[in-house]
Amino acid sequence: MRVLILGVNGFIGSHLSEAMLAKTDWHIKAMDLAQDKIEAHLDNPRFEFKRGDITQEPAWIEEAVKTSDVVLPLVAVATPATYVQNPLRVFELDFEANLNVIRLCVKYNKRVVFPSTSEVYGMCEDSEFDEEKSHLVTGPIHKERWIYSTSKQLIDRLIYAYGKHKGLSYTLFRPFNWYGPRLDDVFNPKPGGSRVLTQFIGNILRGEEITLVDGGAQQRCFTYIGDGIDALLKIIENKNNCAKNKIFNIGNPTENISIRQLAETLIQLITENYPDYAEQAKKVKLIEVDAKEYYGEGYQDVSLRVPSIRQAKEHLAFEPKVDVMTGLHKTLDFYLA
Ligand code: UGA
Repeated sequence: MRVLILGVNGFIGSHLSEAMLAKTDWHIKAMDLAQDKIEAHLDNPRFEFKRGDITQEPAWIEEAVKTSDVVLPLVAVATPATYVQNPLRVFELDFEANLNVIRLCVKYNKRVVFPSTSEVYGMCEDSEFDEEKSHLVTGPIHKERWIYSTSKQLIDRLIYAYGKHKGLSYTLFRPFNWYGPRLDDVFNPKPGGSRVLTQFIGNILRGEEITLVDGGAQQRCFTYIGDGIDALLKIIENKNNCAKNKIFNIGNPTENISIRQLAETLIQLITENYPDYAEQAKKVKLIEVDAKEYYGEGYQDVSLRVPSIRQAKEHLAFEPKVDVMTGLHKTLDFYLA
């Protein structure tokens, strides 16, 4: 199988390519702006990489889609601070750039595996989010955070329509707070410059205060990257068409913790297990900050985000295996080594 991965140097792309090279005989063609997370594969004959910007290389992209069996357009901005600070960039990249790729998949009749997001459910109040039943709930237009959710949602709807009316073969997968090694750069000190886990690890490493936005009672189901990748490999393999034209939440519903608990757990884990950072970790203070102050007026949050994984269990035999304590340990080993 020939798999095209756009955005291969990202968090998901780098783990996916590593797993594909180790566990399958598939051939990978890939593009990214950077290559620091995939250096190990550059000499592999099954890994064909071009460094570049997907918006500037239309001829390469078209040829790559044409000669692949499955296409994964993973290029996207995925940090909430950027949704608020630079919503046009989010639209141009997450929506427009990916739309071109999806249209090429329609043109050449290629299967597309697209990263939707847990964010499409927005502020849905269901106790667990269901791919077929839950409403997708976002805030007013001046709450610019929702440009990411709605850009992704419109692509989901387009892919669905291309599938129904033009015969496009697709799978949409929705990661729920996937985390692990290589998530973001913990040395990026900008508030909101990375996702919460890497933000907090960076805060502790630099001896800074940890900021709990609106008190940190909001909860997330943190899902270890290895579990997400297991599901993704089954989706790409698509044995007996098990993933054909389906939408899957991929998350760990039992590992549902508050952001405050996440901060406390990290401090405890570092204090107990990483002597070089223990003293520093013990001194870290948790402070509560209003969301408006931290992210700006355009921010709005999600208080509870739990996936139903019924579909993934039934069609992919998906079963998340890594609990938060184990996953955080593995992640800390990576960043603190
Ligand atoms: C994330 C991002 O949108 C995407 O990475 C992705 O599509 C999706 O969720 C997902 O992975 O499922 P969110 O969980 O809100 O959204 O993003 P984080 O930046 O990781 O923030 C989580 C929570 O921590 C938010 O409530 C935020 O306000 C809070 N936070 C963040 C803090 O309390 N302090 C901080 O320093 C940073």
